[in-house]
Formats: sequence, structure tokens, C-alpha cells
Amino acid sequence: MLGRFPQGAAPLTERLTATPAGVSLGALDQIADGAARSFVLELLAGRFHGFVVRCGHEVFGYLDKCPHLGLPLAQKLDDYVAAGQIACSWHGALFDIATGACLVGPCYGAGLTPWPVRVEAGTIVTA
Ligand code: FES
Repeated sequence: MLGRFPQGAAPLTERLTATPAGVSLGALDQIADGAARSFVLELLAGRFHGFVVRCGHEVFGYLDKCPHLGLPLAQKLDDYVAAGQIACSWHGALFDIATGACLVGPCYGAGLTPWPVRVEAGTIVTA
């Protein structure tokens, strides 16, 4: 049976846990300082779900998957940060923005999966 994808290719719904370097995610200024934004990248190999938190001129990216139950952290669009920490909306886990380490909650001692990103000339790019 012929499918939508070439033989041997993964379907687009495959969940990816990493992205290639050099993918532009848009201007740093699209994210307010101290806030976050969700990104979904559709790549040939599948779909990647991540988010980026901005702290001044720095950015920190993570896979959008809580280490507790594997759910996306935010239930409302871009709602990842509360009181200066990354917050999971399901069971209240809190994570350090710079390291992704769980500080409080049911996955204490675990951490978010880093998504390497950086700022280049005012644009966020995957690293
Ligand atoms: S799924 Fe994130 S704290 Fe439970």
C-alpha cells in the first residue's frame, strides 16, 4: 500500500527529542523578558515540541515533556513560567530556568531535557 511518506521514512507524527543546529526560531523580542514561548517544528524526520524561556539576552530551551508523566508542561499557550521558575501545570513541579532541574514536585531530582538554543544577532536559533 502506498502511503504519504516515502518507503522507510518516518511519519510526520513521529515525536522528536532533538533538532538540527541552525534552525531560526525568530526574533528574541517575540518573547518578553522572563516569559516563554512554545515551538513546534515540523521536520522531515517528525515533529518536535519544545519551549524557550527568555532571561534578558539569554535563552534556555527544553523539550516540552515533563519528567513526571511525560505530559507537555503548559495547558495554556506559552504558560511555562511562574514566579521566576518553570512550572508544570499538571501537578505543580517547579524547575530551575537555567538548568531544568526539578526543585519541587513529584519529579524532584529529575530534570527537563535541554533543547540547545542560543541568540545570534537578535535571533533565536537552535544550537
Ligand atoms: S506531569 Fe508535570 S508534574 Fe506531573
